[in-house]
Amino acid sequence: MIQRDGAMISLWQGNIFAFTPKSKVDPRLVYDVIIVGGGITGISTALSLQEAGKKCLVLEKEILGFGTTGGTTAHLNTLLDTPYTTIQKNFSEDDAKLTAKAVQKALRLIHERVNRFAIPCGYKEQQAFLYAQNEEQEKELDEIAKASEAAGIDLTYTTEIPFPIPFTKAIQVNGQASFSPLHYLYGIAEAFEKAGGTIVEHCRVTGVEETEPLKITTDAGTFKARDLIYATHIPPGVNLLHLRCMPYRSYAMAVTLQDYEYPDGLSYDMVDPYHYFRCQEINGKKYLIAGGKDHKTGHEENTRHLFETLEAVVHRYFNVKGIAYRWSSQYYEPADGLPYIGHLPGHPQNIYVATGFGGNGMTYSNVAAITLTGLLTGRDDRYAKLFNPNRLKPVAGFVNFIQHNADVVKQFAGKIFSGEKISGWSALARDEAKLIKEEGQKIALYKDDKGILHGVNPSCTHLHCDVNWNNAEQSWDCPCHGARYSMDGKVLTGPADRDLEKIALDDPGNKKHS
Ligand code: FES
Repeated sequence: MIQRDGAMISLWQGNIFAFTPKSKVDPRLVYDVIIVGGGITGISTALSLQEAGKKCLVLEKEILGFGTTGGTTAHLNTLLDTPYTTIQKNFSEDDAKLTAKAVQKALRLIHERVNRFAIPCGYKEQQAFLYAQNEEQEKELDEIAKASEAAGIDLTYTTEIPFPIPFTKAIQVNGQASFSPLHYLYGIAEAFEKAGGTIVEHCRVTGVEETEPLKITTDAGTFKARDLIYATHIPPGVNLLHLRCMPYRSYAMAVTLQDYEYPDGLSYDMVDPYHYFRCQEINGKKYLIAGGKDHKTGHEENTRHLFETLEAVVHRYFNVKGIAYRWSSQYYEPADGLPYIGHLPGHPQNIYVATGFGGNGMTYSNVAAITLTGLLTGRDDRYAKLFNPNRLKPVAGFVNFIQHNADVVKQFAGKIFSGEKISGWSALARDEAKLIKEEGQKIALYKDDKGILHGVNPSCTHLHCDVNWNNAEQSWDCPCHGARYSMDGKVLTGPADRDLEKIALDDPGNKKHS
């Protein structure tokens, strides 16, 4: 099992051993491209660039697949979360066609790599089914079908779906697929290293000097590159993109079925937020994967409860034998419906970003690989204009910079709370968290299942919103731009790149924190 950015174990992380990079970084070298982030976007892009003749270095602050690639439900689809109706409306009919071309090309790239590198990731071509369950949804389905077909998506109406779910009208979309994302990620990481690329794990970027070449400081040394790509899900620092990408959590479970009737296909209802189902065989065992119950990060008081509501939906339609895995994961919804891939606004032209993939992260990861490779090699920028992050209108007076090295004001430096105070706080039940105020300062407290108190300053190190407790993943989640921290304040998810301030608690009944 590998580590992930949450306390719950995903189907993928529970069925794989960690990848071990074999490549060695050369700090004297000026790399052509440094890619920050070792998820599917970072590694896919790095492999494309390396194969295009660029010398690439990937820096990952934890391990490959630690973030959303280890928590996705891995639908490879051209039927997008942002319907083609919305892309036509917000952009144009031609842009909807270009988007369809881009996502189709992305799926072909993934398929080609599965074959070329013989990656044992359970890749399977699938059909997707979108179904309406009432008249209102039927009308919306008709509009989506019309716009998707006009964009070039291969679909038909169908009177049957392979899932035991009642519906009134449905479409079947061809040319979709599914796979095990971590097996795929490790397969392309190996191919990247074989092609001469370098991967460094446990390497947090702490600063970027925007010089020629760029100097990237990390906790494992300083590296130089001509170009830099943030494939970190959302870029760090403070940027317009944080105002245009809304963080969401989505909930998933992998269940086994009594009757062993695991349907083929990807299926989506039209409830808001919608539910999604598919099956996957992994390490010789089949699972039904269900997902849904999405909400804005940090905006839900009882995240555990969402698993119960998702479970009720699964039991309604399927003969469940057991629930093998439950987990949640994060995605960023773009303001206008399309991802932001290209030059990072407010920075030199050689700093790039890929973010705002919505619920189509697996597909858009490879759109990013294609678009960024086109941009950085100057060979093809067909998609660059469409996904250009600078399509955002500048906000007057907005401070637009990345400041990794800014000092955080330590409010609790040198302060240790007394046993008397802590015993008051100890009234917390085990596995309970709350925000309290002490001597005018807010403290985020969590008592773990061993009765040990953990205290942090709740002020998010990104832009200082107060974090909220996520009881499902045992993390402190920021409701503003989606940064997430462990119970002890360690950054799990950006855009924050500095940990929450830990509070020293000194009590005989507690372990000593420093
Ligand atoms: Fe921006 Fe917390 S993530 S303030």
